[in-house]
Amino acid sequence: MSESLKINKSAADEEIYSSLISQIDSLIDERVPALSNLSNITAALKESFDKISWVGFYIFNGEFLYLGPFQGKTACTKIKIGKGVCGKSFEQIETIIVDDVDKFPGHIACDSGSRSEIVAPVIKENKAVAVLDLDSYSYSSFNDIDRKYLEIICKIISKKINFDSLVTTDK
Ligand code: SME
Repeated sequence: MSESLKINKSAADEEIYSSLISQIDSLIDERVPALSNLSNITAALKESFDKISWVGFYIFNGEFLYLGPFQGKTACTKIKIGKGVCGKSFEQIETIIVDDVDKFPGHIACDSGSRSEIVAPVIKENKAVAVLDLDSYSYSSFNDIDRKYLEIICKIISKKINFDSLVTTDK
């Protein structure tokens, strides 16, 4: 499918998320590869919120987090577990909101224009398998509303998308 999203971008974030959740749920087509579905989810998020400068997945291959489908500028391709906001969120299996990236020890700056960030883990059987990372060029762009809905989106992803063998390393 390639229908356009129905989003009222002038609405409050919570309203945008509520209408986005059902659209993301129906956007996921379990007959196509995970890569295709994850790509569309990043596009849906980027299109829905002007505050997002970058949105994408980092996916665990058993050792590192590797760059997955994303929208935005080119980014770091490999993150160690425990490093940066992504590595920390993955390790702690919890969402991390960063109001000012310069104040987050070890923040990995892929885009020097980024000011704030939120990272939510995708959890399967109590283990993180990937993270969903959103950046913004403004300070404090993300709050508990983003946390609530991004965690719902990650739950839908976890339920419907199979991450097995999504990340294999070319030697
Ligand atoms: N800032 C992230 C790295 C990924 S980029 O933002 C796309 C981090 O500190 O983990």
